[in-house]
Amino acid sequence: MNYANMIQSINNPMIDMRSDTVTKPTRGMLDAMVHASVGDDVYGDDPTANELQEFAAKLLGKEDALFLASGTQSNLCAMLTHCQRGEEIITGEHYHIFDSEAGGASVLGGIMFAPISNNRKGGLDISDVVGKIKPNDSHYAITKMLSLENTHDGMVQTVSEINDLANCGKKHGLVVHLDGARLMNATVKLNIDVSDMLRNVDSVSLCLSKGLGAPMGTILAGSKTFIKQAHRNRKLLGGAMRQVGVMAAAGLYALKNNVERMDADHQNALRLAEQLNQFPNINVNVDMVETNMIFMDIKGGIAESMRKHLQNKGILIGPGNNKIRLVTHLGYGHEEGDLVINELKDFFN
Ligand SMILES: Cc1ncc(COP(=O)(O)O)c(C=O)c1O
Repeated sequence: MNYANMIQSINNPMIDMRSDTVTKPTRGMLDAMVHASVGDDVYGDDPTANELQEFAAKLLGKEDALFLASGTQSNLCAMLTHCQRGEEIITGEHYHIFDSEAGGASVLGGIMFAPISNNRKGGLDISDVVGKIKPNDSHYAITKMLSLENTHDGMVQTVSEINDLANCGKKHGLVVHLDGARLMNATVKLNIDVSDMLRNVDSVSLCLSKGLGAPMGTILAGSKTFIKQAHRNRKLLGGAMRQVGVMAAAGLYALKNNVERMDADHQNALRLAEQLNQFPNINVNVDMVETNMIFMDIKGGIAESMRKHLQNKGILIGPGNNKIRLVTHLGYGHEEGDLVINELKDFFN
């Protein structure tokens, strides 16, 4: 898509609620991209990528940071850096790192996963973590890492929950990684500094391309030694890029301008969730809508016809027959919310 088309698409009236990854760069972000200073980042010469990495490291309270193409690449880089072949990662059975990243750590790194149940709020229970740690016995893989996720399905883990899990991991000699693809949604919701959430985790992955609204990119942060090795692994994964400052500028813009506004996404999600409960066949557990995601339970086999009806009106919602996800983001405001509700009234009439 060229610059002119990108600007045109900002005015596209379609309401896309499938994910917060669907956002288009705003004019301010596009301006930052167009005016970015660039250089060859493989030589370490891209001033904007360097600025983003320094800014992000400081923001996250870590020694160093690395800009990667995607959340999947960032998580994979973290796992390859922390673990050797024959080592194992304890994580939630519904966490993205385990069930939605093509098993990359196993395929490419010879690393095993030891999944445990997620609790009702998407977190992990300490007793389950401890119970999954393998004894030091030559029959077993070596338990090496604990991988957490915040937010999960839009639900927030508090600082004390993350701290307790991280400390438990540390006590048992594990490295602790946090997949914070949507971490800023959690910290905005809790009204805390993001670094407070990260004191006891060794590495964190933060996506710039979800609620933060950049077209691509993820930050991986941790100690200097960790990032040096992750830099090597990024190369190994084919993720070393050249004049990447154009994209880093979007990420920098997102971190400087799009964090606090996510509170509006959370309010909009809650407002929509409450309104959805007026319809027969739809039930939303409003207590579970903590940030920008809504899960509708659908009864009566109406999901497909409802989805088609909305699609014909330019409104896209998630897949599924019994449970459908809706996600709010910077392309969704009160006006869009009213349109969605009106089209649903039309459908149910
Ligand atoms: C929790 C979580 N982690 C990681 C990722 C991977 O990000 P990406 O799609 O940029 O690879 C996603 C993607 O939606 C995610 O939801």
